[in-house]
Amino acid sequence: MPAEMQDRALSWDEAWEALEDDHIQLYTTGTPKTIHQLWARCYFEDLWSLMGEKAAAGRYLELGAGRGTASMYLASRGCDVTMLDLSPVGLRVAEKNFHKAGLRKPRTLVGDARATGLPAASFDCILSIGLIEHFEHPKALLEESVRLLAPGGLHYGLIIPESGDGKRLLADALFAPWRLASRLIPKPVKSLIRPHRGARLTALEEECPRNDYDGEYYVRLLSEMGIAGAVSIPANGYHPVFASKSLESGLVIPAYRFHHAIKRALGMRPMLKTLPGLASCQLLMFRKPR
Ligand SMILES: C[S@@+](CC[C@H](N)C(=O)[O-])C[C@H]1O[C@@H](n2cnc3c(N)ncnc32)[C@H](O)[C@@H]1O
Repeated sequence: MPAEMQDRALSWDEAWEALEDDHIQLYTTGTPKTIHQLWARCYFEDLWSLMGEKAAAGRYLELGAGRGTASMYLASRGCDVTMLDLSPVGLRVAEKNFHKAGLRKPRTLVGDARATGLPAASFDCILSIGLIEHFEHPKALLEESVRLLAPGGLHYGLIIPESGDGKRLLADALFAPWRLASRLIPKPVKSLIRPHRGARLTALEEECPRNDYDGEYYVRLLSEMGIAGAVSIPANGYHPVFASKSLESGLVIPAYRFHHAIKRALGMRPMLKTLPGLASCQLLMFRKPR
């Protein structure tokens, strides 16, 4: 592995080590009880419905799989799943999660998502959560994804750009104005107030920076690569409300769940789609031409 990639893998290993025994469990078989569980469920349900007839029999590759949440949902439906990540520690966390949930661990590979060495056209779906924004030059990653997809295969990547927080200003103003005030507190002061959280953020934000490209940038890149019809959809209007745990669990999560149930009943896919001013993410979707 080139030295630059080794450094990168080490940074991710450190980040996963910091979170290893204390990360939020996003996979749940029951009703989602936290906002993060809810959006992980929405992500999976959207993906499943977009796969249509191929959903159960499709071959799935999760890139940057880390703790494995999306793959856990797929594995729970008996799907053929491969998980690839640069960080062996990330995959170790996933292994523990699969074990805890009583799910059989899928095929796992340690490697670079830009040069996987996997056979061309061998997957019906390539998915990722929080991977694409970690590349300054994402072209090679997208090219590899296009190479790996079978004709008609679906790319489904959730991007969480650096300015995702900034773009949530409207959401914060509406749902959690106290978070606007918290933005004014400098990071060193915050880490004094909440040292544990400060350490985690340092590991993730400083060692593993994110880019800030807008969705159209990726769509343009793909169109230059001959992929027409790629879309980038503003996604995820479900925001945490940090001011009060009881407010969050008693009011906010039930309200979000109600909203999610209505969208599902009305077939409003993707369910994570939201207004640009409320979006913390982008869903980058395309199909490889047949
Ligand atoms: C923000 S984490 C997201 C992990 C997981 N998808 C989740 O939702 O928890 C990004 C993941 O991408 C992995 N990663 C970063 N660069 C990579 C690369 N070049 N190839 C493969 N994985 C990579 C990291 O190791 C990390 O596990």
